[in-house]
Amino acid sequence: MVVTLCVVFILSACVHSCDGNLRFASYYGDHMVLQKSPERAVLWGYGPEGAQVTVSLSGPIKQKPLVVTVTKGIWRVTLDPVEAGGPYIVIAAVQNGTAVLTDVLFGDVWLCGGQSNMYFKTSQIFNASQELALAAKYPHVRPFMAALRLSETELIDLIQVELPWSVPTARRVAEFSAVCWLFGRYMYETLKYPIGLVESCWGGTPVEAWSSSRALQQCELDQTKDGPNNNSVLWNAMIHPLLNMTIKGAIWYQGEANTDYHQEKYNCSFPVMIDDWRMAFHQGSGGKTAHDFPFGFVQLSTYQKGSTDYGFPNIRWHQTADTGFVPNPRMKKTFMAVAMDLPDETSPYGSIHPRDKQDVAYRLTLGARAIAYNEKDVLFLGPFPKQILSTYKYVNITYDQTVSVTPSKDIFEICCSGTKAPCESKSPWVPVPIMQWGVTTVLLPNLCGGEAAALRYAWTNWPCDFKACPIYSRSRILPAPPFIIYAAKGNIWKSY
Ligand SMILES: *[C@@H]1O[C@H](CO)[C@@H](O)[C@H](O)[C@H]1NC(C)=O
Ligand SMILES: *[C@@H]1O[C@H](CO)[C@@H](O)[C@H](O)[C@H]1NC(C)=O
Ligand SMILES: *[C@@H]1O[C@H](CO)[C@@H](O)[C@H](O)[C@H]1NC(C)=O
Ligand SMILES: *[C@@H]1O[C@H](CO)[C@@H](O)[C@H](O)[C@H]1NC(C)=O
Ligand SMILES: *[C@@H]1O[C@H](CO)[C@@H](O)[C@H](O)[C@H]1NC(C)=O
Ligand SMILES: *[C@@H]1O[C@H](CO)[C@@H](O)[C@H](O)[C@H]1NC(C)=O
Repeated sequence: MVVTLCVVFILSACVHSCDGNLRFASYYGDHMVLQKSPERAVLWGYGPEGAQVTVSLSGPIKQKPLVVTVTKGIWRVTLDPVEAGGPYIVIAAVQNGTAVLTDVLFGDVWLCGGQSNMYFKTSQIFNASQELALAAKYPHVRPFMAALRLSETELIDLIQVELPWSVPTARRVAEFSAVCWLFGRYMYETLKYPIGLVESCWGGTPVEAWSSSRALQQCELDQTKDGPNNNSVLWNAMIHPLLNMTIKGAIWYQGEANTDYHQEKYNCSFPVMIDDWRMAFHQGSGGKTAHDFPFGFVQLSTYQKGSTDYGFPNIRWHQTADTGFVPNPRMKKTFMAVAMDLPDETSPYGSIHPRDKQDVAYRLTLGARAIAYNEKDVLFLGPFPKQILSTYKYVNITYDQTVSVTPSKDIFEICCSGTKAPCESKSPWVPVPIMQWGVTTVLLPNLCGGEAAALRYAWTNWPCDFKACPIYSRSRILPAPPFIIYAAKGNIWKSY
């Protein structure tokens, strides 16, 4: 009896590292989700130099143990593909010790990155108490959060873990990213298999902090800032250490910090960061994470009602590589949740932090279903112009889908070619009312008294009241994204 108790004590005392040497990298833990088939999960850790490490999996499906040798203090294996499910026990063993992960599930792993609107906690959103009460009903949606740390060099492991892999409880989810959690929960409702959520984000940070120096060079961004806003410092400490695991995809909510910092370069820095992350995760995982893994993001919501600053509209546009929609030829396999119709003027966290994260996450889920899971006929973006016909009397927009229209006097604006100032500046824009609309068309008066040079929609920081933009998809769930289209540049524009 005494002997048994002793064994139990020793086992429980050495769950992660029995010999002071053999252990998993900090990212691995009990209750974690590893990427399911067809991808293959990568496991790695530390061990005594030259030792043979045997990695085995015990659970619903057997796999033959993998044996590797520790080189430069590190061992690493790639599992055979494992179907969604579990729980599994993962055991890494050397001659004189073992490291064990218990209650491991296989499912899809999503990385959640960005700044404060991704960091925004579930306890801070509308209906927080109802949402938190549901947390325990989703034991197969597992959160993990990297601690906020920065580094001037690329690290191979996290400096610290904020929330180790956990079975969700109201208390844990309260402190976890709302967008990330809700995205995982809604995806679980669709997929019905485990979802791993890796939160790695930091409030107030520009895209430059999350980009490698390789990526920044491509956009000629070399100016440095302080602390967590400095070039590459969060890439180094909070993303680079994750590259060697296998992920399904990433979601991202960031851009506010770039409305007044290298705003004009965001059309380079953001698409380049996506490409660079894809390349790096693919390489780090030994080709197991797809080279074009799906990347979803939230288009900026709203800030400073009534402001005439163009920061938000410009970043919203740059988020789409200046096309207005995704995916597009520059940003393949991306999806976007439009959020400019979800303002929250009285948010106690400042209006830059709207509390409706449910709609944001739901719209992201639609994009993931269409782009990451190839579900046919799932619409995730609202109406976008397919053709613009302009005459001296009218500007006639044909959308790519059925529109649900509420008249507006000023959400559309035209720039007249006769004006002296270029359309990029503020003065030449004239608000035009919606005159008429059809199933897929919207007709505006051409108030130029001549040729219209450009047309824009929702081009302000705060274009609409809550869920009250003038143009939505037929179901009224998806707002039409903002756009700015030039007659001279756009091949969709025809003047008569
Ligand atoms: C296990 O062996 C390694 C050397 O191979 C040694 O460094 C380590 O301290 C040993 N651990 C225990 C618990 O004896
Ligand atoms: C920013 O980071 C670079 C290298 O990563 C470092 O050389 C520089 O001192 C940092 N600047 C500030 C202001 O922290
Ligand atoms: C990005 O936008 C700026 C204007 O804000 C423009 O001058 C530049 O040409 C654009 N760059 C790319 C790569 O589209
Ligand atoms: C992670 O991947 C990179 C790139 O393939 C490689 O250089 C590095 O050694 C890997 N680290 C581990 C711990 O396997
Ligand atoms: C909050 O709950 C109410 C009542 O169920 C619901 O009508 C509302 O849409 C919810 N708000 C959000 C943002 O989910
Ligand atoms: C607007 O364009 C649509 C599609 O080309 C066309 O059916 C409609 O008649 C046009 N409306 C006007 C007023 O020209």
